Amino acid sequence: MSCAAMPMPASPRINRERLIERLATFNRIGALPGGGNCRLALSDEDRGGRDLLVRWMGELGLAVTVDAIGNIIGVRPGREEIAPVMFGSHVDTVGTGGRYDGLYGVLAGLEICEALGDAATTTRRPLALVAFTNEEGSRFAPYAMGSLVYVGGLSLEDAYAVRGIDGKTVGEELRRIGYAGSAKPGWLKPHAYLELHIEQGPILEEEGLVIGAVEGITGLVWTEITITGRASHAGTTPMHLRRDAAYVASEIAVFLRRLARGMSGNQRCTAGRIELYPNLVNVIAERAVLTVDLRNTDAAALQAAEQELAVCLDRLAAQENVAIATRSLASFAPIAFAAEIVSLVDTTARELGLPCRRLPSGAGHDAQMMARLCPSGMIFVPSVGGLSHNVREETKPEHLQAGAEVLLNAVLKLAE
Ligand code: HGY
Ligand code: MN
Ligand code: MN
Repeated sequence: MSCAAMPMPASPRINRERLIERLATFNRIGALPGGGNCRLALSDEDRGGRDLLVRWMGELGLAVTVDAIGNIIGVRPGREEIAPVMFGSHVDTVGTGGRYDGLYGVLAGLEICEALGDAATTTRRPLALVAFTNEEGSRFAPYAMGSLVYVGGLSLEDAYAVRGIDGKTVGEELRRIGYAGSAKPGWLKPHAYLELHIEQGPILEEEGLVIGAVEGITGLVWTEITITGRASHAGTTPMHLRRDAAYVASEIAVFLRRLARGMSGNQRCTAGRIELYPNLVNVIAERAVLTVDLRNTDAAALQAAEQELAVCLDRLAAQENVAIATRSLASFAPIAFAAEIVSLVDTTARELGLPCRRLPSGAGHDAQMMARLCPSGMIFVPSVGGLSHNVREETKPEHLQAGAEVLLNAVLKLAE
């Protein structure tokens, strides 16, 4: 048949049903009884998800590599052997995770590879689909550990030595689930990195928009605070003789709310974990361990918040006669994405007729680390009710498709 007669391959199109079907299949792994998912990093559930992703990548003919921190990269060859366009996200979840945080970006990337295959399209640049290890950081801090190691921001040894909230180390767990790969993290330097993700906040939905062209990511400081007082009898100990660790932990939580309220702009303060010992109704708590999550898109404001917290801890230690020790779990400055990537996302959304705006991300993401390695950016789609890190996390099917279409077209532009 002459070329003229050969049917032009259809231009690649996202198959919404196939994407939603893959999300549903993947989310059977680590499914929680009342809905949502728990695939904590390096858990058996995480292994199950990883195994399924590796299988799906293989079925699409991607060359799969696992590196020494467990990052999974599937490469689709291009017409030329040059730096690839990388896209993806993470497949681990928080303990009460939703169905889209991270996973949506990885499976939309897989859908792109399949859509390109359906259209018999080979891009000039190779494409690299990635699932980074331990983006959430809830079991092993810091978050975005896999991408941080990938860009050289954390050594492999230090990452392996991190002990999680359940006492296991990253190295032990990575080996146990069989994902301590042989490739050196950072082995593939991308031409650019794009991450499609749910917004996890209320802005796009409130403004009736479909796409967010993410300008940058908030700065973040995680601190674990251990307060040591003295256990004593709840009935016989006069109030002025108490060294009450639970009271001090509560004072810190209240201080955080006041601190956020007192600072203009978007200071966020959270005490997400509070553990008491001995945690009994009639014993004044001897010890309290709590975590503090401070975030701000303004580096100076974030530092000021850290300072205020330190002053508060000194004051409480003296006033309540307790010992207060702090341990840094994560500390990242805010970052701005490459202007050319932000405008690529913005322009691509508008060309597809999708209402779009630029906005910062209050959540941390792997793209924050990849921005150290290559021009990076993110595409957001709306979260229903702005809800995330909650089993009722939801994004409309048409928005899932729209985000994947923007990713597909932006990747095609970068790859050509
Ligand atoms: O905490 C975060 O922002 C991310 O979800 N790990
Ligand atoms: Mn995420
Ligand atoms: Mn998350």
